[in-house]
Amino acid sequence: MPRLLFIGDIVGRPGRDLIRERLPKLREELGADFVVANGENAAAGAGITATIAHELLASGVDVVTLGDHVWDQRGFDKEIVGLDKVCRPANLPSQCPGRTFIVVEKDGVRLGICTLLGSAFMKIEADSAFHMIDAFIEKIKGQCDALLVELHAEATSEKVAMGWYLDGRATLVAGTHTHIPTADEIVLPRGTAYITDVGMTGPYQSILGREVAGVLGRFLDGMPRRWEIASGDMRLCGCVVDFTPKGMATSIKRVDLRV
Ligand SMILES: [Fe+2]
Ligand SMILES: [Fe+2]
Repeated sequence: MPRLLFIGDIVGRPGRDLIRERLPKLREELGADFVVANGENAAAGAGITATIAHELLASGVDVVTLGDHVWDQRGFDKEIVGLDKVCRPANLPSQCPGRTFIVVEKDGVRLGICTLLGSAFMKIEADSAFHMIDAFIEKIKGQCDALLVELHAEATSEKVAMGWYLDGRATLVAGTHTHIPTADEIVLPRGTAYITDVGMTGPYQSILGREVAGVLGRFLDGMPRRWEIASGDMRLCGCVVDFTPKGMATSIKRVDLRV
């Protein structure tokens, strides 16, 4: 039965080092046929570069997804055009560069991957994921047997709602962006695996991957500060989903690999 490993937001150099050092072995141990990882924080916590995307792909990631930090690195809007295994949010304005949907194939099973931005509290222009997803799925459904829909969103309710909305139409609906893993993994009645947030791959002795003092200071006095990437309590977080060759999930388990 095909197996998918989905990995949450890789944060900065510590997150990248963890992927490089541990993912090849983890992929083998799990027997994962497909590995997808969110790389929106891979470059110093904000965005990604082509060089870093290639580094992640060389470490055993098949497809890199992105989120609201997609354009944080200068020049990435040009670089993304040449990256055929990097997926930007599908509900950004249509004139944005980059792929909105990627298919990878293993042993005759085609997995489609897309990522969507949520609406609540997101500081980037995007269409409603709910308003565009029906037409989007209609357009891509002949191209894949299984479908991963990542919802990169702040609000739990939006993510849960999307899980139910796509039950029976997606193999996995997985949340990212909050960097905090949730304990609600479930296979919904029509065969869609769901989890509200898989958490980040990075330092958990932190505030969402950044050193505590800087972020805390912002809450205390509102003054601008550099938010350095933290380093303590490194974890690789995600989920593993088994599914039938027709793309219905049979199980979902959380992954929380601690170094
Ligand atoms: Fe993130
Ligand atoms: Fe994000």
